[in-house]
Amino acid sequence: MERIVIRGQRRLVGRVPISGAKNAALTLLPCALLTDQPLTLTNLPRLADVDTFGHLVNGLGVDTTVTGARADRPGGGRAMTLTADRIASTVAPYDMVRRMRASILVLGPLLAREGEATVSLPGGCAIGNRPIDLHLKALEALGATIELAAGYVKATAPRGGLVGGQIAFPVVSVGATENALMAASLARGETVIDNAAREPEIVDLCRCLQAMGAEIDGVGTERLHIQGRSALSAAEHRVMPDRIEAGSYACAAGITGGDLLLEGAAAHDMRAILAGLTQAGLRVTEEADGIRVAADGPLRPLTLSTAPFPAFPTDMQAQFMAMLALADGTSVLTETIFENRYMHVPELARMGADIQVRGRTAVVRGVSGLAGAPVMATDLRASMSLVLAGLAAAGETQVLRVYHLDRGYERLEEKLSAVGADIARDGEG
Ligand code: EPU
Repeated sequence: MERIVIRGQRRLVGRVPISGAKNAALTLLPCALLTDQPLTLTNLPRLADVDTFGHLVNGLGVDTTVTGARADRPGGGRAMTLTADRIASTVAPYDMVRRMRASILVLGPLLAREGEATVSLPGGCAIGNRPIDLHLKALEALGATIELAAGYVKATAPRGGLVGGQIAFPVVSVGATENALMAASLARGETVIDNAAREPEIVDLCRCLQAMGAEIDGVGTERLHIQGRSALSAAEHRVMPDRIEAGSYACAAGITGGDLLLEGAAAHDMRAILAGLTQAGLRVTEEADGIRVAADGPLRPLTLSTAPFPAFPTDMQAQFMAMLALADGTSVLTETIFENRYMHVPELARMGADIQVRGRTAVVRGVSGLAGAPVMATDLRASMSLVLAGLAAAGETQVLRVYHLDRGYERLEEKLSAVGADIARDGEG
């Protein structure tokens, strides 16, 4: 098993190119199922999850052609053309969905295009229970019949296809909003989605669907109006920059007392993250080619609560916690989205952090230093928090279960080494 070995306490200085957003890519790839014409996505990050999604849609009949890296752009992401002339299968098998929960995002597009779809139920995961009831209710509102059997969900559209409907989500769900948007784009008539997620990745999805010919009003608000089309057409779309990757490197600047320019990062997608960094005592400046984050004295403690966009994202909670473990005072973090997203706490504690968790709240008492140790986490963002802690810790940190990081951080060691970190991957672990 591979591991990442970090020798900490090096100040990071320089430029970090920010890649295309993982969570945008994972909802843009299934858009290819909505049309028989080619969809070209540029700035696609090179990540295990993107490859896995590519294999999933290949199995459904989508032809994927990678047309090379774009060295002219920060991050240099790949361009990929996806063409689904015809759908070869409407089944997303357990083996795929088990590996990547985002596989559920083929449900809406397959159902809308083919009139039926069968997708394995994802089950729980390391960060919580994560049901899909809201996805299913949204599709029912468009006329679908849902059956659950043998661990699979089978959705069937009425004869003549999905019909526009009223969807009102009781809680904000990124994935359910995505499935509803994609399905409604090919439904007959108008769909209204209330209490829609407003995450920048949803805006990116709307822009792509609009480029394919969908008519969507209210983009970026909690009420979306979609006029369904009988067919969508060819389009090219550039994947937005990854705001969580950018936020993670901002924390790397903070925890090492460094100064990093996050090349290509988009400040308008990151207001709550940037506000948190500023409150933590970092100097944040928006520059022509990205966002600069520089340490400016000791780290200050924070009180933060995660919530849907535009509030502070759950996907940044673990990384901020690592940084605040070294702040000059006591921080209070509350996780409101996922019930089990503190898997990094015992590992950070092994490195010397002082963190008490009570229910959904973590009290982080800043300590004067962390010490390197072998650590491992059970999810992507938790693993990144351990890398951050390792960058600041005295001595050597070994982060095990590197495959979590490969799901969501493109060329992690390369990007960190280029700004002065002592970090390497070692195959022996
Ligand atoms: N929920 C339900 N029923 C549903 C769907 C969601 O109760 O049918 C609940 C969830 O259990 C959770 C809350 O609603 O408590 C929000 O979940 P959401 O559906 O918004 O999350 P998701 O779509 O499954 C995406 C990201 C996550 C990110 C969350 C929240 C992708 C592929 N994943 O998940 O990203 O944490 O939104 O912003 O877009 C990550 O990148 O590390 C990651 C976990």
